[in-house]
Amino acid sequence: MEQTFAMLKPGVLQRRIVGEVLSRIERKGLKIIALKMMRIPQQQCETHYTEHRDKPFFSSLVSYMTSGPVVAMVIEGENAIAYVRQLCGATNPANAAPGTIRGDFGLVTQNNIIHASDSPESAAREIALFFDPSEVLKYEDGNQSWLG
Ligand SMILES: Nc1ncnc2c1ncn2[C@@H]1O[C@H](COP(=O)(O)OP(=O)(O)OP(=O)(O)O)[C@@H](O)[C@H]1O
Ligand SMILES: [Mg+2]
Repeated sequence: MEQTFAMLKPGVLQRRIVGEVLSRIERKGLKIIALKMMRIPQQQCETHYTEHRDKPFFSSLVSYMTSGPVVAMVIEGENAIAYVRQLCGATNPANAAPGTIRGDFGLVTQNNIIHASDSPESAAREIALFFDPSEVLKYEDGNQSWLG
């Protein structure tokens, strides 16, 4: 079963919409198998966004992401990486369709509500960067054939 990493950005806590965003992930049928609220250390944040190190928005993005607590999680399910990206919508909320998380809750690109891994490689790297294996909890769903 595929696993992906997602993180709710600081504005989500400030706006008290953690539950609304998490409920969209749960409603889809995806399974949260690790979840924690944390303040990201600067170094860890820079490592997380290392692919963007040379972009003009890098330092501003790191400042924003370390400005307050985030909610980090590991999500499991069939095609979890693609489904979570689909739930998020386009990077720029101006292009994100209504019904997506960024389309419904976001206004500007940097503060676009949620991060989600974009490939199996980035998912593995990001899960390992944010979670100790002991924090990732496997559990049974019982007989729910709609989960596929
Ligand atoms: N042009 C930009 N101006 C400001 N911030 C940006 C810009 N492009 C991207 N970002 C920020 O950097 C993050 C990572 O950008 P990336 O291109 O990886 O988009 P993404 O894969 O859709 O989003 P994420 O990696 O956060 O899930 C975005 O979520 C956004 O916060
Ligand atoms: Mg990305």
